[in-house]
Amino acid sequence: MEYIRSKDIYLLMRDILKLINPTLMEHGSRVAYIVYKMLREENRYEEFELADIVMVATMHDIGAYKTEKSRLNDMLQYETRDSMTHSIYGYLFFKYLSPVPDMSKVLMYHCRDYEKLQTVDYEYKDVAAYINIAEKIDIYANTMGAQFDPRMFQKQAGTKLSATGLDRFYQCDAKYNILEKLKDGSYKEELDEIAEYMIFSNEGKKTFMDMLIYCMGFVRESMVLDTVTTICICGEISARLFLPDQEREMIYYAALLHDLGMLGISQDILQAPRKLKPEEIKHVRTHVGITQEKLIHKVDEDVVAIALAHHERGDGNGYPKRLTDKQISLQQGVLQVGDVVSALVNKRSYRDAVSKQQVLRFLNDEVEKKRFKKQPVMVLVESYDEVMEHVRKETARILKMYQTLNMQYQQVSTKYKI
Ligand SMILES: [Fe+2]
Ligand SMILES: [Fe+2]
Ligand SMILES: [Fe+2]
Repeated sequence: MEYIRSKDIYLLMRDILKLINPTLMEHGSRVAYIVYKMLREENRYEEFELADIVMVATMHDIGAYKTEKSRLNDMLQYETRDSMTHSIYGYLFFKYLSPVPDMSKVLMYHCRDYEKLQTVDYEYKDVAAYINIAEKIDIYANTMGAQFDPRMFQKQAGTKLSATGLDRFYQCDAKYNILEKLKDGSYKEELDEIAEYMIFSNEGKKTFMDMLIYCMGFVRESMVLDTVTTICICGEISARLFLPDQEREMIYYAALLHDLGMLGISQDILQAPRKLKPEEIKHVRTHVGITQEKLIHKVDEDVVAIALAHHERGDGNGYPKRLTDKQISLQQGVLQVGDVVSALVNKRSYRDAVSKQQVLRFLNDEVEKKRFKKQPVMVLVESYDEVMEHVRKETARILKMYQTLNMQYQQVSTKYKI
């Protein structure tokens, strides 16, 4: 059973990054389109290989979501002058967390002058050189508007930019009206069509889905730990309830995606070290609707239904639909418990982690009030220490690569004083 297609993982990833920064995401899509048109013309790659390149090109600036937060709107500055920071973070991010680690150096080299790039021995250096051309064209076309003439780059041919690449671009632009299509937005459809050729193995899909979690971390570091903890607790509960593999997989995807909509909620409110005002609570609650909007038609509907019910409660006082116990499935019930316990055992801006006794008391109260389903709570309470020990080990395992990446980035930053 396929709960999400490779193409939709790509589209979902774009949606997530768009929630974080629409300008940067659209830049990525336009660059991917230019590179796709250029490489397609050369017939060097099969369609499915081009699909991988499109994925990487779309995310060529992924490092900037993390490193350029304070100046995301000053693309000209960090893309053309101090490009090192976001290139290195992007490279490490792809190396450790993506399903295509062999393409990670494309991100490192995408801002490098062509002369220097020439000396490097790397399979995909042409792709990096083409991304470099494409991103310069996109940035300057957007900054200069009607005054932009792509021929202005001709004087950098062979030094900063690849001469072959530039010629290829001029030829493709004349043939396919690339700049025109970028301006009127008609490139988008063509780009989505190529995504049809994206085929990840099951393992690749899993890696890509995990990568989505780390993307959430660009906005709030705590979302990574929260999501991974929720996934692990749900996994432990599902196993102890002897749920069939299919249901466990559905719960896994739902747990991974359930709070995606939080990326659309204002940071000031989420990080406020105080109790929220009623209108702020109302705003936070819209995250379920945003999650729905992003997941619908991309993810299996049963998975979406589990994800969207994570704030429902059996007594009818949950949200957004005020479902009652009979309308809530066991799978939905598992995620409700996993989500709450994950929030309790992890720290918040306004409080410390909650103790075991408090968690157990809370769970018992909630079951008594018929807000939670009994079975998931029972299996969790019965072997709480064992479950939490597994969760601790599992989260540490999953987060290991992420921590290695952040540590290496720190080391490189210190070394290069960036
Ligand atoms: Fe860049
Ligand atoms: Fe870029
Ligand atoms: Fe939520």
